[in-house]
Amino acid sequence: MPVSGLSVIQKRIEELRQKLDYHNYRYYVLDSPEISDEEYDSLMRELKQLEEQYPQFLTPDSPTQRVGAAPLEAFGVVKHPLPLLSLGNAFVTEDLFAWHARALKLLGVQQFDMVCEHKMDGLAVALTYVNGHLTTGATRGDGFHGEDITQNLRTIRSIPLSVPKDAPPRFEVRGEVYLPKIGFHKLNKERESEGLPLFANPRNAAAGSVRQLDPHITAKRPLDIYIYMLGYAEGKPVPPAHWETMEYLKSLGFKINPNNKRVSCIEEAEEYYQKWTRQRESLPYEADGVVVKADLLAYHNLLGDVGREPRWAIAYKFPAIQGTTRLKEIGISVGRTGTLNPYAILEPVQIGGVTIKQATLHNEDDIRRKDVREGDWVYIQRAGDVIPEVVGPIVSRRAGNEKEFSLLEKIFDKELGRPACPECKGEIVKPDGEVMYYCSNAACPAQVQERLEHFVSRGAMDIRGIGERLIALFLREGLVKDASDLYALKDKRTQIVRLEKMGEKSADNILNAIEKSKQQSLARLINALGIRHVGEETANLLVEHFRNLDDLGSTTKEKLMTMPGIGPKIADSIVAFSHEEENKKIIGKLKKADVNPQMEEVKAEGLPLSGREFVVTGTLKAFSREEAHNRIKALGGTVKDNVTHNTTYLVIGLDPGENKITRARALDTEQIDEEKFLAILG
Ligand code: IVH
Repeated sequence: MPVSGLSVIQKRIEELRQKLDYHNYRYYVLDSPEISDEEYDSLMRELKQLEEQYPQFLTPDSPTQRVGAAPLEAFGVVKHPLPLLSLGNAFVTEDLFAWHARALKLLGVQQFDMVCEHKMDGLAVALTYVNGHLTTGATRGDGFHGEDITQNLRTIRSIPLSVPKDAPPRFEVRGEVYLPKIGFHKLNKERESEGLPLFANPRNAAAGSVRQLDPHITAKRPLDIYIYMLGYAEGKPVPPAHWETMEYLKSLGFKINPNNKRVSCIEEAEEYYQKWTRQRESLPYEADGVVVKADLLAYHNLLGDVGREPRWAIAYKFPAIQGTTRLKEIGISVGRTGTLNPYAILEPVQIGGVTIKQATLHNEDDIRRKDVREGDWVYIQRAGDVIPEVVGPIVSRRAGNEKEFSLLEKIFDKELGRPACPECKGEIVKPDGEVMYYCSNAACPAQVQERLEHFVSRGAMDIRGIGERLIALFLREGLVKDASDLYALKDKRTQIVRLEKMGEKSADNILNAIEKSKQQSLARLINALGIRHVGEETANLLVEHFRNLDDLGSTTKEKLMTMPGIGPKIADSIVAFSHEEENKKIIGKLKKADVNPQMEEVKAEGLPLSGREFVVTGTLKAFSREEAHNRIKALGGTVKDNVTHNTTYLVIGLDPGENKITRARALDTEQIDEEKFLAILG
């Protein structure tokens, strides 16, 4: 091609990148997109194609390259040019006022402006930009050395990969990477269905996500960032105050918390704290306090640091939603994949208006680390709507008769002379490198019950009307033994009608729901099968490579390992699952019952609703929820349970879910009534 032709292509590539960066910024930083996802995707496709055809024009900060890097063996170490300090804490008003009085005295002034911010509960990172490009992203580490997590941070859409040309030639910004509450709940739900230990809170989840060696996994987690400080800037003057610096960073494309506030006296700072103490639960992220900072940067220098804490800022912590009670006993429940999950059985206690009787204890390692013993008085914490957690023992209240916990001892069966599953007496195993113990008996009734509950659950085959109670009944009556038997229930209608609290109508509804579930996608079915370590997220990855269950069943560990986001643990688990005779039988029966979804070769591009995502809430007049979903899908649209940034329309029927509407309002999602919905369906 003549050089002039190439330069036209290069120009188009640059134009596409600029457009994509701009729309990315509108969407992820400003939360205010100007174009539809569909238009965005089409620009992205064009850019990808051009870059594939003309690799000489590919650059590392092209928007196509956010998730490009291969998994690492380990993270490198980054030396921070300026140490990342921590913050002194205030727990009561007096602490805040004392901090302020001391600063006034040291500065020799009567008053100084301050900036109040939320203390984000996430993970501190430092981002370095050189000549306009993001070159390094590092964790805080010990404050002096952090881990190089650049390739993971690049996957966070609200972190700009490049900044305008007039930015300082070298500078570092600092901020907090966090996982919004919604993302946290979703992630934990997925982990639960994959039989993985749950994250205790969004902070741990964010830290776990950012410290993945495979950036594809990080990319799947809806991480976000707020920048809260300029570390340093070279080669260009920057504003003299923190507030203006934040405005300036905003103008460079960084995401700054809109709840920040500049105040001129400490009483105002106190008010800010009080306001957010009351409203913290309404925030879409976890904050554990407010940070009050002197505004003028010259004052930062004058005030200096004590130890590793600056005197120019203080963290005023929110009161923890904590309580104390006695831990009567540690119980063990058996999860779907056989995990033995320890949990605390508590003397009931009221915390923030909720009675708590049980709390999670994660796993034995965690219990040991915290040194929690049966009979202990313990601190219990409830953060937002997260499952209550045992924070730790009150050692000073020990009487001496508390009992240290050992899982194997707890489940030791005297008759058998070995540890045994508390539900089925099955043998216990602990795979290498895992923290959980498992019941190895796949026929364990607790596991069977949990597996069936998972199979019919919303994220899986979504069979409405069947839940914990009915499954227990089906099992008790011998109507089903595994998930595939659900599809044979239609031949046992008379028996079902006779079940407790059943009747003709309910029985038919249930049988219809089972029949309808045959239409569910391959990803849902894979998730529903309950393969250890394979939940919604992994199932969605798998269907990009396998067309049906047979394909998946005949794959090898090697092939699986070539797929982004699939490591040896998942690969082993899938292969082991497929080779298990019992599973082969179940899959055979599912296929025979016509539960055998196929991936379509061609994606639904070109259909009238392709690229549009719907969430339906409330009852529609014209058709059932299921029918509405099918219509949308038939026209190429997608249907989701929850409103996210990707939702195009929230369809509102009678008695809609308030949460969905609030969420749609917050995200500026278009809300439509049934009439408009029908018009869209044509
Ligand atoms: S300013 C000199 N602002 O809190 C330290 N920190 O205990 C300046 N944090 O590791 C930090 N939200 O990760 C600052 N709005 C905010 C913050 C914030 C959360 C974290 C930060 C740091 C820790 C210090």
